[in-house]
Amino acid sequence: MSSLAVEHNAINLGQGFPDYPMSEELIALVNQHMQAGHNQYVHMNGLPVLRNVIAEKIYSLYKQQINADTEITITPGGTYAIYTALTTVLQPGDEVIVFEPAYDSYIPNIEINGAVPILIPLVYPDYKIDWDEVRKRISPKTKMIMLNSPHNPSGSVLSKEDIKQLQTIIAGTNIFILSDEVYEHLIFDDMKHESMLRYPDLLKRSFVCFSFGKVYHCTGWKLGYCIAPAALTNEFRKVHQFNCFSCNSPMQFSLADFLQNKESYLSLGNFLQKKRDYFLELMKQTKLKPLPSHGSYFQLYSYKGIGDEGEKDFAIRLTKDYGVATIPASAFYKNGTDNKVLRFCFAKKESTLEEAVVRLSSL
Ligand SMILES: Cc1ncc(COP(=O)(O)O)c(C=O)c1O
Repeated sequence: MSSLAVEHNAINLGQGFPDYPMSEELIALVNQHMQAGHNQYVHMNGLPVLRNVIAEKIYSLYKQQINADTEITITPGGTYAIYTALTTVLQPGDEVIVFEPAYDSYIPNIEINGAVPILIPLVYPDYKIDWDEVRKRISPKTKMIMLNSPHNPSGSVLSKEDIKQLQTIIAGTNIFILSDEVYEHLIFDDMKHESMLRYPDLLKRSFVCFSFGKVYHCTGWKLGYCIAPAALTNEFRKVHQFNCFSCNSPMQFSLADFLQNKESYLSLGNFLQKKRDYFLELMKQTKLKPLPSHGSYFQLYSYKGIGDEGEKDFAIRLTKDYGVATIPASAFYKNGTDNKVLRFCFAKKESTLEEAVVRLSSL
């Protein structure tokens, strides 16, 4: 959709990246560290001072003691952390429970390890987990359950009740959890982020993956981290050692400094919530109907009653004829489930959102 957007000079509300600038201060810090000569490989597991700051941040947010030496690994982005965690535990024939719609890397990452994705649809239109279905689909081969909250593409978030269900289901099993929490701070409406880091019984079997790109409006930086118990981290690092080895040094130094400023991440939820609300208000001028979004960069909109075609064709028509690119939600399902909904990214400047809505209001 991004190439189509370029071809047709469309406003790109499809791909999930901010079009507003990242922090000047953080850019200056990178420059400062490069000038100071921090340009060589750092420790394979990540710059120690950065891991320490992350451990402090986790304690202040989730009251969980994480060992910076043995339980945190800095990675080149969240996607890499997810791939590495899957590769760490999966053997051919293992089954992994994946909720759809799902971020596009999950299924290929499972399959390349010879494992089998067990696909469970989130329940439309709230995109909640059907835990009875999960119970039915668990088998002796189930190796892992993958979770993503706040969720891309729907913006749904895990609740306390979801956590209880998960705890009950996996108690007494050897099932691992992969928790994709890259939108950790992008959560709205005073909701609490139900991180695996809050729950020792879940954390002891989890790989929890994060992305600095999402936190600091710099998706192109591709830097993140994985938290897992020492024994799992030890195995994770065996994969990491011969794949990436060491991540970008000046950026790790600059993030170690910048993370000291708690406001820089604590203010994010409000910042993005304002964008969601602004976009919601503007979109009232169109015939598209919003589905609830409580987090992430995204909101789904239904075009039921506006167009008869499937999501992909409708999204192509919007791009070509109306100059606004989106992503069909069906792209996040292996079988292309089509509920007539499109994903819009509202992490954009107000002027971008305004211009997009002007174009969409003639729909
Ligand atoms: C759910 C989800 N997980 C992971 C990522 C990837 O993060 P990174 O860019 O750090 O690899 C994204 C990015 O869009 C995402 O939406």
